[in-house]
Amino acid sequence: MVQIAPSMLSADYTAFRKDIEELEKAGADLIHWDIMDGHFVPNLTFGPGVVKQLRPYSRLPFDVHLMVSNPDEMIPWFIEAGADIITVHAETCPHLDRTLEVIRSGGCSAGVSLNPSTSEEALKYVQDKLDLILVMTVNPGFGGQNFLESQLEKIRRIKDMIGGRDIKIEVDGGINPMTAAECISVGADILVAGTSVFAGREFHKNIEALR
Ligand code: DX5
Ligand code: ZN
Repeated sequence: MVQIAPSMLSADYTAFRKDIEELEKAGADLIHWDIMDGHFVPNLTFGPGVVKQLRPYSRLPFDVHLMVSNPDEMIPWFIEAGADIITVHAETCPHLDRTLEVIRSGGCSAGVSLNPSTSEEALKYVQDKLDLILVMTVNPGFGGQNFLESQLEKIRRIKDMIGGRDIKIEVDGGINPMTAAECISVGADILVAGTSVFAGREFHKNIEALR
């Protein structure tokens, strides 16, 4: 069964706690935190302090997506903040194998995200240290962008590449009920969604529509 990870990028920034509590009641499976540094991506969002303060208000896993130029410096901050999954971008990690080891040794699941232009080949030799592959289906930085159909082939290839390994495929960007169906049909296990989950703030209805 596919899992739904609402992105806090689309939340009400004056009421994170309320939104997290409502998302959990509405059937969300994970809480997705888009951490942006204004450098790797042209937008700036939350730091570890925000994640840490919200951690006590949900039983759901916190899925931390690091869109930052220097993830190796920040990983310990988010482990300490209570992240359950930490995902780094392949484009920002020259020593990806080591980075994944650091995430796992902190007790977190380790994910790698690929920008739309990055090939799945970047992950071929680190699969034994991976729990999750996050396929960006838009160029990271902003919510509300259009889904890139070009990424469906990549998802299909990743599904082939991982074979019987226990690695989840997550998709992020432009996910709505229509594009969700396309992603699921080629192998996606987890759907990140901001705009389509928060639309009209009908969390339960919107989450069910994605499933
Ligand atoms: C994009 C972020 C996404 C974003 C998705 O840079 O990584 O998580 O919030 O937003 P929607 O669902 O609006 O495309
Ligand atoms: Zn994300």
